Amino acid sequence: MAGITNGQFCSKMSIYGFDVLTIGGYNADQNAINAGLKIIERGRPEFNITENELYNHIEEEIKLIKSHNNYNGQVSVNLRSSSPKPIIEISKIKELDIIEINAHCRQPELIESRCGQALLENPEILYDFVSKVVKHCKKKVSVKIRANVVGVDDITIAKAINDAGADYIHVDAMKPGYDCADFGVIKSIKSSVDLFIIGNNSIRDVESARQMFSSGADGISVARAAINGTLPFDLSGV
Ligand SMILES: Cc1cc2nc3c(=O)[nH]c(=O)nc-3n(C[C@H](O)[C@H](O)[C@H](O)COP(=O)(O)O)c2cc1C
Repeated sequence: MAGITNGQFCSKMSIYGFDVLTIGGYNADQNAINAGLKIIERGRPEFNITENELYNHIEEEIKLIKSHNNYNGQVSVNLRSSSPKPIIEISKIKELDIIEINAHCRQPELIESRCGQALLENPEILYDFVSKVVKHCKKKVSVKIRANVVGVDDITIAKAINDAGADYIHVDAMKPGYDCADFGVIKSIKSSVDLFIIGNNSIRDVESARQMFSSGADGISVARAAINGTLPFDLSGV
């Protein structure tokens, strides 16, 4: 979560049994940085780090998480960019395990800058983007998408990500108008691709986590339920 999930935040999460902790989203190219500045102006939290400082900043944040005694898992970084180049550059950070391409954020400023959810508009462009990252980076590659975006075919997008050689598809299974995930979209993606599916949205207790797994997710992720600093459930029970 932009402006929130930094190394310090994730270190606090290290006691809850997560296999992966994700920092970011960070704005990785000048287009995304400019969009982030506009978002800050209207009062929404964002990480405000220059392009030159980003590599070292992320490296330090990862070291902070990995130096935490309670944590033996992996660290992922969620990046917004209109081109693959800065993502490939940041993937060179030695301590980093997973690089996550953000094709998810829907703030208008980011979409206008051809970042985040804008990457879902054209499956061929997304395929090309993900292929370049996969080809040039030696880390595992995750792509975070938002489901049920008007005009976007989730299965076509999932297949493009699969064919491009990504390791994970991280699906915010948002169901507009509902306070729960769209488990049907997870089932459909599961039957269409071989990717490791990280199911996300509205996981707030053991029941919602189990439902996500029984819909076909191979893993789950939790965002808003983590913001309070105390998850209301024990992951070992899932
Ligand atoms: C304040 C805030 C900032 C967020 N920033 C990001 C981001 O930078 N990158 C991203 O992929 N998702 C971002 N998200 C989305 C969450 O990671 C997650 O996909 C969404 O909140 C649904 O999951 P949840 O129901 O567990 O919160 C953000 C969510 C919130 C509430």
